[in-house]
Amino acid sequence: MSNPFREDLVSRTRPEACTVVIFGATGDLAHRKLVPALYNLTVSGEMPPGVKIIGFARREKTDQEFRDGLDEINRKVSRTGHDEEVWKSFAPNIFYHQSEFTDADGYRRLAEKLDAIDRDRGGKGNRLFYIASAPEFFDDILTQLKAAGLNHAKDSCWSRVIVEKPFGTDLATAQHLNQVVNDTFHEKDTYRIDHYLGKETAQNLMVLRFANAIFEPLWNSRYIEQIQITCSENLGMEGGRGGYYDKSGALRDMVQNHLLQLLSLVAMEPPTDLSADGVRDEKVKVIRSLRKWDTPEKVLKNVVRAQYVKGSVDGKTVPGYREEDRVDPESMTESYVALRIMIDTWRWSGVPFYIRMGKQLPKKASEISVHFKSPPGVLFNALPTGVPGGNVLAIRIQPDEGISLRMVSKIPGTSLRLEPVKMDFQYSTSFGKASPEAYERLLLDAIAGDATLFARRDEVEEAWKFIDCIVHAWQQQETIMPMAEYVAGTWGPKEADDLLHEDGNSWRRL
Ligand code: BG6
Repeated sequence: MSNPFREDLVSRTRPEACTVVIFGATGDLAHRKLVPALYNLTVSGEMPPGVKIIGFARREKTDQEFRDGLDEINRKVSRTGHDEEVWKSFAPNIFYHQSEFTDADGYRRLAEKLDAIDRDRGGKGNRLFYIASAPEFFDDILTQLKAAGLNHAKDSCWSRVIVEKPFGTDLATAQHLNQVVNDTFHEKDTYRIDHYLGKETAQNLMVLRFANAIFEPLWNSRYIEQIQITCSENLGMEGGRGGYYDKSGALRDMVQNHLLQLLSLVAMEPPTDLSADGVRDEKVKVIRSLRKWDTPEKVLKNVVRAQYVKGSVDGKTVPGYREEDRVDPESMTESYVALRIMIDTWRWSGVPFYIRMGKQLPKKASEISVHFKSPPGVLFNALPTGVPGGNVLAIRIQPDEGISLRMVSKIPGTSLRLEPVKMDFQYSTSFGKASPEAYERLLLDAIAGDATLFARRDEVEEAWKFIDCIVHAWQQQETIMPMAEYVAGTWGPKEADDLLHEDGNSWRRL
């Protein structure tokens, strides 16, 4: 490789080289995210030299055809652009392996290919299996890896697995999948990926909270009035996604994983150390403490679900959710969900966490905002301006990653008038470089054996327990559980605004 590993760029010990086997290698995730991430790690010099990639999929292809397809997409999507010299040294390390996911012989041949690559190209025997296929094959792939003995590494080597989402569709299926995974790989070698945890600002949450002395004393129900987490998208069911999405919906697709992970980072207690289990022990306590709604009435009161109807996004007319390709015209799957969540812990008693996620909203943005209580009004409430709003700490996850603090200030001049102002920190301007893609960080962590930013078995299962209460209420009481509507290109249904108005709050404008 032309870019040797740069010790000075990383705080971790040098990861060992390995072969990354990607199941579902002809899919979008492999082409648009995983291989470009490995390429960009090579460009940045963080990839240990000697990493090989094997794409495992069902279609017939030669190594060269596979490389050419990846080359074409990498030119379009790579974060750092496409450097011919780097690609020339990167591409020969990519191979293709054709097999059905259920074909035992295909795995036997894979084992032979792995050994041959190690032998001929100086590999040591470390393996990272990345299961990025359609979810119905997760079980088969794990079972076949075990049958072929690929779950066990040779002496002093390692064998790890990354499992993509969705990790189950409810508690029972997640428990089953966990059983199959843990029958095959040790928990310490199992990496359940949630790409939101690899986003720069999500990682910075712990640093912000625990490396700055000013926030932690205020980070509780005494000073914080409410916390909001928004993840809005300006896309619908493009690219044939409707088929998958209509069986999943906003709650299962984004809330069970990404949004609850963000919530646990915001709400967790300081961990005892930065080890993977130290951090995950604290995160799982938060998820376990989410108040469960054990009756449909409680779900009705705290959760709003909705579908978009025809509207316009970014100046383009878009169809309603039920008119989308591969979506059931009578679908009861939500493209938007908003929740009022309470965390039953000492720290968060009485503080509502509002979470919303929606497709076909006006823009793509993810943000966490921490809304502080207002100061006593004795001094300034009599002014014509009053005190315009309270302090809000906004943590922007994407785009324009950064953090801003809203404060109240005096307007310059001879009279006393108040106005909110913003102190803003942006990653791009402060550090002068773009953040890596989430998959870059997470792939490198898995190669380095660091599971901190991956979900542990109990986290996934606890999150499903919470989600299942809602889904059961929706399914059992369909008639009394309304499906609200919003016009595509607007900020969601009126019912979601009402949810916050009931508490005297409103959604923050993004
Ligand atoms: C995926 C969901 O996990 O995350 C998609 O399945 C969603 O529906 C995507 O669009 C959002 O990820 P990002 O990184 O673009 O915010």
